[in-house]
Amino acid sequence: MKITMIGAGYVGLVSGVCFADFGHDVICLDKDENKIEALRAGRIPIFEPGLQQLVAANAASGRLSFSTDLAKCVPDSEVIFIAVGTPSRRGDGHADLSYVYDAAREIAAHISGFTVIVTKSTVPVGTGDEVERIMRETNPDADIAVVSNPEFLREGAAIDDFKRPDRIVIGIDDERAREVMTEVYRPLYLNQSPLLFTTRRTSELIKYAGNAFLAMKITFINEMADLCEKVGANVQEVARGIGLDGRIGSKFLHAGPGYGGSCFPKDTLALVKTAQDHDSPVRLIETVVSVNDNRKRAMGRKVIAAAGGDVRGKTIAVLGLTFKPNTDDMRDSPAIAVIQALQDAGATVRGYDPEGMDNAGHVIANLIFASGPYEAADGADALVIVTEWNQFRALDFDRLKAVMKSPVLVDLRNIYRKDDVTKHGFTYTSIGRPD
Ligand code: UDX
Repeated sequence: MKITMIGAGYVGLVSGVCFADFGHDVICLDKDENKIEALRAGRIPIFEPGLQQLVAANAASGRLSFSTDLAKCVPDSEVIFIAVGTPSRRGDGHADLSYVYDAAREIAAHISGFTVIVTKSTVPVGTGDEVERIMRETNPDADIAVVSNPEFLREGAAIDDFKRPDRIVIGIDDERAREVMTEVYRPLYLNQSPLLFTTRRTSELIKYAGNAFLAMKITFINEMADLCEKVGANVQEVARGIGLDGRIGSKFLHAGPGYGGSCFPKDTLALVKTAQDHDSPVRLIETVVSVNDNRKRAMGRKVIAAAGGDVRGKTIAVLGLTFKPNTDDMRDSPAIAVIQALQDAGATVRGYDPEGMDNAGHVIANLIFASGPYEAADGADALVIVTEWNQFRALDFDRLKAVMKSPVLVDLRNIYRKDDVTKHGFTYTSIGRPD
């Protein structure tokens, strides 16, 4: 099939290259000429394992190309995906849909023949209706079916998630789109991945409900972790004990410094706003949002307590800045609030991250960057693990102790066992475990 992907950001690029890998002819379109130039030259603007190689292979085969020329790509396309950003609108937390609507308007003007328009961007319920209305208003002759097809890609595992999905959700209000979308996803369909066809509005809500549920699971276990610390229980064993119940499931029960990233914070907030607008508040999720927001800064206070209660004039080393490993994404990363809290309390913070330091420099002021974990720890009064990159899982504690001013480790991801750390002379604090 001939597919155009509008928006060569994270979702557009991963989806586009995977569709090309399925054998479709894909053009990834973006307004940013520098980005398109870079992609043509094989330079990938984001860090995502496996993406560079997959782009190179599919570009070489001729199935994947890049363009800024919407007017040229749209008439030949059978399917057009809208994968532009929907950031939180400044001030009110609603999703900003202006990029989606601009794309709809521009596409409509150049449509030729029956074309399926698919919204992949995360959009509130009813956006598909508005996309269709805008397109029909712009071009009353356009023969279109507007579809919702949310993505469920985790950063760092996006290609795998795309190729081995738990399910593919497709919301259609025009039956003609069913056959087209089945063809688009044929390799997965043949591979027994469930294609869930539903209405457009239901599909839009599934995306938000799914992310809100996962955010709620994380927040639940984080609150259990706090309780474990008070009552002397172990949150990892609580998570295992409840997770083995098939009705609960073991995933997304890792206690930590609070969820971050490009999806959960933005999507939970947008769901709260949509629900309020429809006089049907989701109080559970309102609470999840505020508990998670408070938690990130509270983690700063936890570090201060572990460092003796006062960090004024002290140096704190932070390992891991991105919101999770295997990405360079700093959006809503807990590290931002943790570092801010430490700096507000008078500490100097030195940070290291394998991929996120460029982006961290844009969002965290006065952070000193180190070239590795041991350089970060040099002369520090405490070492904090905020993000569980694999390279932090086997630190040489004797080497750390030799360079640190005082051997204090705060492990906000529970990647160590207490005994393995304290036997090297460290004091050790983690999340929800009797340390
Ligand atoms: C998420 C969803 O998983 C994906 O389906 C959606 O479409 C986009 O948002 P992503 O944000 O890339 O993906 O990462 P994810 O692995 O879900 O982690 C999100 C945040 O939750 C991270 O900050 C992570 O550290 C945190 N998390 C996750 C926990 O604290 N505990 C867990 O058990 C799981």
